[in-house]
Amino acid sequence: MKRTKTDLKNKWVVITGASSGFGRAATVAFGSAGAQLMLGARRLDRLQETARLATEAGAASVCPLYLDVSSTPSVEEFGNALIERTQEVQVLVNNAGGALGVDPVLEGKDEDWETMFQTNVLGLLRVSRKVIPLMLKTEGALVINVGSIAGRVAYEGGSAYCGAKAAELQISKALRLELCGTPVRVTSLDPGMAETDFSLVRYKGNENKAKEVYRGLEALSAEDIAETMLWLAERPAHICVDELVIKPTAQAAPHKVFRK
Ligand SMILES: NC(=O)c1ccc[n+]([C@@H]2O[C@H](COP(=O)([O-])OP(=O)(O)OC[C@H]3O[C@@H](n4cnc5c(N)ncnc54)[C@H](OP(=O)(O)O)[C@@H]3O)[C@@H](O)[C@H]2O)c1
Repeated sequence: MKRTKTDLKNKWVVITGASSGFGRAATVAFGSAGAQLMLGARRLDRLQETARLATEAGAASVCPLYLDVSSTPSVEEFGNALIERTQEVQVLVNNAGGALGVDPVLEGKDEDWETMFQTNVLGLLRVSRKVIPLMLKTEGALVINVGSIAGRVAYEGGSAYCGAKAAELQISKALRLELCGTPVRVTSLDPGMAETDFSLVRYKGNENKAKEVYRGLEALSAEDIAETMLWLAERPAHICVDELVIKPTAQAAPHKVFRK
């Protein structure tokens, strides 16, 4: 049995939501492994900066392109640009997403709910439909779906986000069944609290509320998650880590956090 690490040098890695947080750190990590990178997000200026960091880190090539995962035409355009460059993808990181608001259901806003399901759920499905056909013959291919502990344990004010990430977990399970017999591995990577722009987005730009989330504890960093993604992708081809839950030591559950 081959137990060699999966080599990412010159292999194509597709990362959604690469303009910030986990996506940006993952780009640098896969870049340092010598991969070729196809990056998508809506904020092109920030995406260009990610691309620069990846080139500095040693990426074999970097292609940053506008992508709105909540739009099928945008995903199609992004995917077609990918197909023009390669017929073989090694890693897909379905990372674009996030939470909006902390309203209880009785005060929930349609636009927040719709955005959360459009990005975290439908966006992941759209990108998977377009990119996974390019992975079906790739030894050691890996789809990393970024879920959350919120998809496993519900909390007040998190209904739609928890529901969306629970959907991500079930989609990952269905995909794994559908792809059984192909070389494609599927991992649901489910982090707890990590300090990125996540809370700033959730609290709609309120910096004080966002900072309060991380007060008095050492949260995970985007680099912690990126390192984990790289580790997953480099496992020998016969190993599939189905699910990986990763939290700060100070967080036992979404609502159980020890603060100094
Ligand atoms: N940080 C945490 O504590 C935590 C914990 C568990 C899971 N997660 C999950 O991890 C993933 C990354 O979050 P993060 O913490 O890195 O937050 P972040 O810094 O806010 O990054 C979110 C990324 O998603 C992209 N995005 C959002 N909507 C998009 C759309 N419609 N089309 C394309 N890209 C879109 C954003 O890019 P643009 O705005 O430029 O499009 C950005 O690059 C999310 O799925 C989030 O739910 C985060």
